[in-house]
Amino acid sequence: MPINNFNFHNSTRILFGKNTIPQLSKYLPEDKHYIICYGGGSIKKNGVYDSLITTLGSRKHEDFHGIEPNPDYETLMKCVNRCKEIGVDKVYLLAVGGGSIADGVKFIAAACYYHGEPWDMVLESGAKITNAVPMSCILTLPATGSESNPSAVISYRKINRKQSFKSELVYPQVSVLDPDTMLSLPMRQIQNGVVDAFVHVCEQYVTELQDADCQDRYAEGLLKALVKNGERIMKDQKDYIARSNIMWAANQALNTLIAQGVKEDWATHMIGHEITANLGLDHGQTLAIVQPRLFELKIKEKKDKLALLGLAVFGIQDSNVEECAKKTIIEIENFYTKTMGVKNKISEIDCSQDKAWIDTLCARLEKDGAKWGENQNNTYRS
Ligand code: NZQ
Ligand code: ZN
Repeated sequence: MPINNFNFHNSTRILFGKNTIPQLSKYLPEDKHYIICYGGGSIKKNGVYDSLITTLGSRKHEDFHGIEPNPDYETLMKCVNRCKEIGVDKVYLLAVGGGSIADGVKFIAAACYYHGEPWDMVLESGAKITNAVPMSCILTLPATGSESNPSAVISYRKINRKQSFKSELVYPQVSVLDPDTMLSLPMRQIQNGVVDAFVHVCEQYVTELQDADCQDRYAEGLLKALVKNGERIMKDQKDYIARSNIMWAANQALNTLIAQGVKEDWATHMIGHEITANLGLDHGQTLAIVQPRLFELKIKEKKDKLALLGLAVFGIQDSNVEECAKKTIIEIENFYTKTMGVKNKISEIDCSQDKAWIDTLCARLEKDGAKWGENQNNTYRS
């Protein structure tokens, strides 16, 4: 099957490496009102905030803090209202943190110009976004690729929803990737981040066989880089080689390049988002729980690609393709749990006996006619 037609454009400039925050200055207009958006305050302890303030110099700026992991609609709307007070045409947004901050800022950027209820903008998957406030990003947690992609995932805790949207208008203009910002990361976030990036590559690779050699070989290279440097960083967080390779691999895993012209299957993410929305588990953790089981369930459709992955990434060889695929699933699971130390059983994390959310969720998925899989032919029942 040949590569499908595609139209690829990624407009984000990347400033990669040590001490690159000051280089942002060259790309930030002088006459804007900057809003520095961040989370619980890690950037104030690790020097990133101070470096940004020096970089901004005399440019007008203010803070908006308190964006939570899995950014919440209600928190983000406070910043939308503040932007409107200032005048949306004057504002420039700076996202400083992990994927939740980048995603939250994408929502703020688009909601500022959206006519109507901004949650609808998310439910419409971003299809009606017509304008957005400009934004740039300083990434402090490699995982999501949000720093140079058009997607965002927004939570609305009040109604137990977690939903993604997409728009070319919310690509960050510039993103700084300085691996030294990772030095202050709690190990749990590094573990989650490597698993998240690994699963991103899989969602764009473990589908049907297609004659897309560049996409496939590049995807395999990214997976190998994540396995090799995942092992390294678990031994020593100070290892710059491991940090820099993980930061770049996580970016490339979801800057949309490897998805061009090939099928994608984001079912693991879709199910993972529902688990986070209902139980509050970390994003990376939900993926480690869901993906191996889903692969087992879909082994007939996915065995060829799983076998290819197994050979390229883990050196697995077996003349029987299905056996090879099964061994690959075990290796992937071992990578998540043994190498990266991420738990992959829901019962090890959430001991609640209340399973009512599952019925509520299934009823909604049925009503929405939700379909997943590379051929959009899987419902929650199949
Ligand atoms: O809030 P602060 O104090 O900064 O602490 C954060 C937060 O508690 C901390 N952290 C980040 N950088 C740090 C640091 N702590 C110390 N030192 C640093 N350098 O890490 C915690 C988690 O941050 P968060 O941004 O939530 O993590 P992550 O980057 O994993 O983002 C997860 C979110 O991204 C979405 C997920 O669904 C989830 O909501 N995703 C977005 C995607 C996209 N836009 O394309 C794709 C992904 O699949 C994913 O769904
Ligand atoms: Zn993810």
